[in-house]
This record gives sequence, structure tokens and C-alpha cells, in this order.
Amino acid sequence: MEKKLIYNKNLNGKTTVLGDKSISHRAIILGALAEGVTTIKGFLKGEDCISTIKCFKDLGINITEKDDIIEVYGNGLYGFKKPKEALYVGNSGTTIRLISGILSAQNFSCTITGDSSIVKRPMKRIIEPLSLMGANINSNECFAPLHIQGTSLNGVEYNMPIASAQVKSSILLASLYASSKTVVTEKFKSRNHSEIMLKYFGADININGNIIESKPISKLSSQNIEICGDISSACFIIVGALITKNSHIVIENVGINPTRTGFLEVLLKMGANIKFLNVRYINGEKVCDIEVKSSYLKAYNISGEIIPRMIDEIPLFALVASLADGTSIVKDASELKFKESNRIKTISTELNKIGANIIETDDGMIIEGNKNFIANKCESYNDHRIAMCIAVASLICKEPIILNNYNCIKISFPTFFDILENL
Ligand code: S3P
Repeated sequence: MEKKLIYNKNLNGKTTVLGDKSISHRAIILGALAEGVTTIKGFLKGEDCISTIKCFKDLGINITEKDDIIEVYGNGLYGFKKPKEALYVGNSGTTIRLISGILSAQNFSCTITGDSSIVKRPMKRIIEPLSLMGANINSNECFAPLHIQGTSLNGVEYNMPIASAQVKSSILLASLYASSKTVVTEKFKSRNHSEIMLKYFGADININGNIIESKPISKLSSQNIEICGDISSACFIIVGALITKNSHIVIENVGINPTRTGFLEVLLKMGANIKFLNVRYINGEKVCDIEVKSSYLKAYNISGEIIPRMIDEIPLFALVASLADGTSIVKDASELKFKESNRIKTISTELNKIGANIIETDDGMIIEGNKNFIANKCESYNDHRIAMCIAVASLICKEPIILNNYNCIKISFPTFFDILENL
């Protein structure tokens, strides 16, 4: 399905974005593992997080919604029932990878699979560490469907070969069930929502720099969770305001956990006019209101530790770098090849169609700046973040970009077009 995108518009006014996707998944998961009723305010009703709810319902967990509050009736670490059919995670990599850590320790077997993109995404990264913990996982040559025979697990000392919060979280969830302590060491820190929330629910978890120690426990306790706005969703609106003339917006209640703010730090270095107002903490997560004004941006190079802290925003970086003054280089970002699409290829191809000059490299991109965008027909590859990048680029085009397969935006940001219209 095609859509004529909003074009030649600036953004003005106050808005909020929907709840954080990573935190929403984890709130359902930990609520299901805890004993008692967990309430969740601000849950993201995007397709990915709804897949997580569906999987836990299929595992016998009662999850209800009343006045926009989700209630999860947790039955404890072993309170799941063998599902009648294979669990289906849709497009959600977070769901399949995190839930595998839990299913590895149950006393039943089950199968997990997902859509045509999920079955192409690498699962070796979780099969390897979970197998070291004693898990029994069969797969289609390390791709989904995964067949997991639950068993007893042991602790593991694991040095993460890649920076991945999904892998780290899968191991940490399995570690709750292990017979001994688990130690996960990260070279570069990936998002730490699991660690923050596990602690909040009463797990025995200690963090020392990039080393996380988790001891087995007998129970987690239910909590009341309030979820902040998703910084990754906010970044699309932020870039929309930065690159258009005479824009001035405030996005209220956005999460600014430092493991997620890499892109904002880079934008500030590029000269962006962004202010963090009203900084506060909710359930251990840092939150603020973000004010953004149109800005003149200079080129910037990114590599190393900042990459995992802005991994979902690198397509947006390619967009702003194409408009900035000078040439920008992205290195150490080969993980982008394993997202909902190969984002090095898909973002370069689509931005080049509208006037950018981006050269793909093995682990990133070389992005020439000072470009003007010219409308064309673009493709989302069914990747929500590529679709939203193209929609943001259309704001500075004199004619509308026509975007094919735009519906995938519902995966993470169902109100995206409404917000653009309202601003
Ligand atoms: C996520 C972690 C990241 C990110 C994804 C969500 C999470 O993936 O790209 O959108 O919620 O843990 P990786 O951990 O595979 O890098």
C-alpha cells in the first residue's frame, strides 16, 4: 500500500510520543514472572508489544486492560502453561530473544516463530549463551522457528561478543532460574532497561561498570510501572523540527536513559538546538521534556561505544548527515545489517533515491552532506524505522514522496502521522 507523505511543512507546538517499546516489552515480561498483579501505565500499544502480550496470554497469563492501564496477573517464575500451538512473535526480535531465556527453564517444550523478517534474523547470538547455561534449543540452522525443551539451567560467565541488549536480557532472564551466579560482561554498554526493571521487581542483580552479576532468585514481586515516552520515536519528530525552517517543538515526558541518548549527544555536537527541560526519574528511568528548534548542522563521525547507544537512530543519522555541512562517516555499525531490514543497505538506497550521496561500507556508511532532497517513490522494506525516516525527509521536499508499504509504522509508533499532522 502506498501513501503520499506530508511535504514542505515545518513543525510547531507541544506533543507527546507513545510509551517506550523496550520498556513496554519488559513490563509485560517481568509482570508475568512476578507474583501478584503488575499495573502498567503508558504501555505502547504497537504491534511488537502486542505480540509480547499475546505470547504471555498463550502461556496462560491473564492480562487485561482497564482505562488504559494494563494489568498483568503474574503467577511466578514457573507459573506458565505449555502453549497449545507455536508462540508467534510477529515482527518482534525483542519478544523472541527475551522469551527464549524464560522458556529455556520451564518444565515443558514449545516452539516460537514469527513473520518473514523474524525467520531471517540471527538467533545464534542467544542459542550460544543459553546453551552454555544448559538450555536445549533446536532451530533451523540458528534461525527461527526455535524449539525449546525446558530444562534446569546453570549460571554462566559470558563476555558479550556483540553489543546487544536483547541477548543480554535473554541471558539475565535465564539467570533468574540458574543454579549458580551469572556474570555478563559487555564491551560497550547496550540499553539497560532490563537491569533497571529486574532490580525494581526484586531480582538480585549488581552492576559494576560493564559487568552485570545476577544471582538466582525464588520470586519477583509485582509492581506499578509507569512508562515514559519512547526516545527512539521522539527522535523522528526531533529531526523533523531540526531540518525544517522556523520549527519549534516541545516533546513532553521522553525517556533519556543514557544508554539510549547517543543520537541526541551526536546531534548536540553537530550544532542542534535541543534543550532538556524538567529532568526527573520514573521507576529508575531518567525522563524529561525535550525542546527543539530548527538548526544548522555540521558533519560528524560516529564509531565505537556510542553506536549501541544510538543503534536504532543510525538511519536518522544518515538523513541528518546528508543535510549537514561536510562529510560524515559511520563505523562499527555492522549490527545494522541484522535489524528489521539490512539498514545500511535500505537507508542508503532510499535516501540516495531522493538526492543523498551515501556510500555503503562493510560496517557503516560514508555520507556526503549539503544535499537537497527531491521527492521520488520510496520503499520501506516493511521496516518501521526506514518508513519513518522517509516520512521525515518528505517534510523538506517541494513535492510529496510516495512511500510504499508504510503500514509497518504501526509496529512501534501508531500515532506517528497524527503527530506530524498536529504539529
Ligand atoms: C532492543 C534492543 C536493540 C534494538 C531493538 C530493541 C531491546 O536490539 O535495536 O530495537 O528492546 O532490547 P539489539 O539488542 O539486538 O541490538
